[in-house]
Amino acid sequence: MIRERFMSSLNASDRSQVRIRELLAEARPRPEVVVRGWLRTVRRGKEVTFFEINDGSCFASLQVVADSAGPLAPVLEELATGACVAVRGELVESPAKGQAVELKATELVLLGPADSDYPLQKKRHSFEFLRSIAHLRPRTNSFGAVFRVRSRLAFAVHRFFQERGFLYVQTPIITASDCEGAGELFRVTTLDAGNPPRVDGQVDFTRDFFGQQSGLTVSGQLEAELFATAFADVYTFGPTFRAENSNTSRHAAEFWMIEPEMAFCDLAADCDLAEEFLRYLVRFVLEDCADDLDFFDQRIEKGLIDKLQQLARAEFARMSYTEAIKQLEKSGREFEFPVRWGCDLQSEHERFLTEQVVGGPVFVTDYPKEIKAFYMRQNDDDRTVAAMDLLVPRVGEIIGGSQREERLDRLDARMRELGMEMEPLWWYRDIRRWGSCPHAGFGLGFERLLMYVTGMENIRDVIPFPRTPGHAEF
Ligand code: 4AD
Ligand code: MG
Repeated sequence: MIRERFMSSLNASDRSQVRIRELLAEARPRPEVVVRGWLRTVRRGKEVTFFEINDGSCFASLQVVADSAGPLAPVLEELATGACVAVRGELVESPAKGQAVELKATELVLLGPADSDYPLQKKRHSFEFLRSIAHLRPRTNSFGAVFRVRSRLAFAVHRFFQERGFLYVQTPIITASDCEGAGELFRVTTLDAGNPPRVDGQVDFTRDFFGQQSGLTVSGQLEAELFATAFADVYTFGPTFRAENSNTSRHAAEFWMIEPEMAFCDLAADCDLAEEFLRYLVRFVLEDCADDLDFFDQRIEKGLIDKLQQLARAEFARMSYTEAIKQLEKSGREFEFPVRWGCDLQSEHERFLTEQVVGGPVFVTDYPKEIKAFYMRQNDDDRTVAAMDLLVPRVGEIIGGSQREERLDRLDARMRELGMEMEPLWWYRDIRRWGSCPHAGFGLGFERLLMYVTGMENIRDVIPFPRTPGHAEF
């Protein structure tokens, strides 16, 4: 309604505005429609002018045909790639191949002109170049497809959990605790960086905004755990931040994570849920985003749809860390990072396991406690914890999770071993004093998921405005 009133240039009471997706899906003539969008191409002929409008609602654009010498001639003259237009016309069967219907324009308004400096003149641009014009790249085929899939998948995430009775909890973005203990917290402060208050030479954070050192969250898990001891099944889905200075194609400083947390759940059931979740999301995009996936399959990763269909059917393999190390050792491969029991798995190891050893998704479980976070449940062997990582071909780790240490004495012992301060996590420990229960959860990196389902190779190309070392402009 608001939009209809606003667009007074093409008849204020116009109710015939539709999205191109609907017109193309229906593919039937209509006596009158109004379409608004951005020009992808213009071809001027002596008698007719063709132009393609895309409104972002679907991959395809709508072909518009206008009489070059008719009453629209002055506006047609001004049309150029990138311009924004409103068109009224009759939707007719298209005589040419390539589209079922086309729009015969009777009225045309140039809402926002574009000049020949418009950077998206060519059909194809490198992703590197498009990153430098992140404000315009959503208007390209590739990024249109990426961000439509992203939006639909976000919806599917909520649908999956809501259908299963999980409570959606919004965990804080500003926090004083470093959940993963990796020291990757971005600092949040209002102190004067050039002249902070000091006591004995040290910065005095008691005089900072929150009265203590605080930062941007690296994970909503600790708070989700609190909610799981009240609502049993909960999930968070929000932005997470890591000041990890690794300039890789799989790491971003700001990314979105989905973190379910379940009471009365052990590691095996945690893996079961992760498997069901990933399969659900893949099935959802196969059905819901078919046109966009066709594009990815043809242009970005050959065989993508096949791969996704296989995943939707496959049972995921499960393998202990100890077994994974044996497999890597007996492979005879020379890895850049040597393999021995106790080492953290690097990307090259993860990919070898999922691509060569298993040939599909694999959960690696029960990692050495030394390479995992303090909250993971300690196994009886005293050397491993009930952790799991889900590895998938090409992307590597897509999910990380664990059963949590619900026994206060064991948690305290581990925190002491790690030299952690008890006091700041008093609330986390409290939960183990009153009504503690076995519980487990995991984190799915939303961008890693998108890389997997679109075939895009760089995490920077599945986030609207990527934040990586040195990049926060737009
Ligand atoms: O394995 P991670 O660090 O696990 C956690 O944060 C747990 N608290 C989750 C939980 O049990 N609730 O991160 C989980 C996932 C990774 O598997 C990966 O997909 C993604 O988050 N991830 C990143 N994605 C993009 N850029 C980064 N810098 C990422 N770091 C982790
Ligand atoms: Mg991890």
